[in-house]
Amino acid sequence: MPRELRVEQAWTDVDDYIVGQLLPEAADFDFAIQASQTAGLPPIAVTAPQGKLLELLVRVHGARRILELGTLGGYSTLWLARALPPGGQIVTLESEPRHAEVARANIDRAGYSDAVEIRVGPALDTLLQLAAENAGPFDLIFIDADKENYPGYFDWSLKLSHPGTVIVGDNVVRDGAILRPDAPDPITGATGLIPGVRRFYELLADATAAGRVSATAIQTVGAKGYDGFVLAIVAS
Ligand code: SAH
Ligand code: DHB
Ligand code: MG
Repeated sequence: MPRELRVEQAWTDVDDYIVGQLLPEAADFDFAIQASQTAGLPPIAVTAPQGKLLELLVRVHGARRILELGTLGGYSTLWLARALPPGGQIVTLESEPRHAEVARANIDRAGYSDAVEIRVGPALDTLLQLAAENAGPFDLIFIDADKENYPGYFDWSLKLSHPGTVIVGDNVVRDGAILRPDAPDPITGATGLIPGVRRFYELLADATAAGRVSATAIQTVGAKGYDGFVLAIVAS
């Protein structure tokens, strides 16, 4: 996958500094990044500081049931899993069997096999199944699969939530391309991504106006370039 996202050297250097100062535990999960790379998975996992943010969000929220959309090699899953209390569970959805296989091995090796269920298939199909199984509600939902389907993922997230559920969405700034709906994605060159993420913002805006969520988006820079997270809480 071509990576044309602008990455300033200082952003990467500062990420390294942050990891060096604050994240001794990040080394525990380096093997998962290496295994993903060896297996030829794209290098698009969250960074260690971002993974730690996910961990801290789970902890401050006391989340016990987590839903993740987009597993890749399970790197973000490991950060989420680290934060779980005993008996906590993550269901993570991945359409690529090869990615799921790498993730399974990484999660098993880190000792979180019991806490993590990987469901292979297009997430929209799996979400329908999860709803039919009454698998919800989830306490925290991390949306990080294909950006074209973020609008659908947000709808499902609301259906699988309870008052207080935290929804986190990755990749909502894309080097500022979010302001240019007709521009191709700066990373993949594809055209469906930015409209998908903009529609996600519109649905969040509607849900905000209806009092269903309270949300913000935070722009980030780092080793993965200039991007951002949406953070929303489902209204009580
Ligand atoms: N959360 C991961 C990164 C996910 S990258 C981490 O930070 O470590 C996005 C993943 O979504 C890829 O593995 C891709 O195969 C998967 N994906 C793409 N389309 C999907 C779909 N329709 N359903 C489920 N997963 C999908
Ligand atoms: C890319 C980054 C991501 O975090 C993601 O979920 C998908 C793609 C990228 O940089 O290409
Ligand atoms: Mg992402």
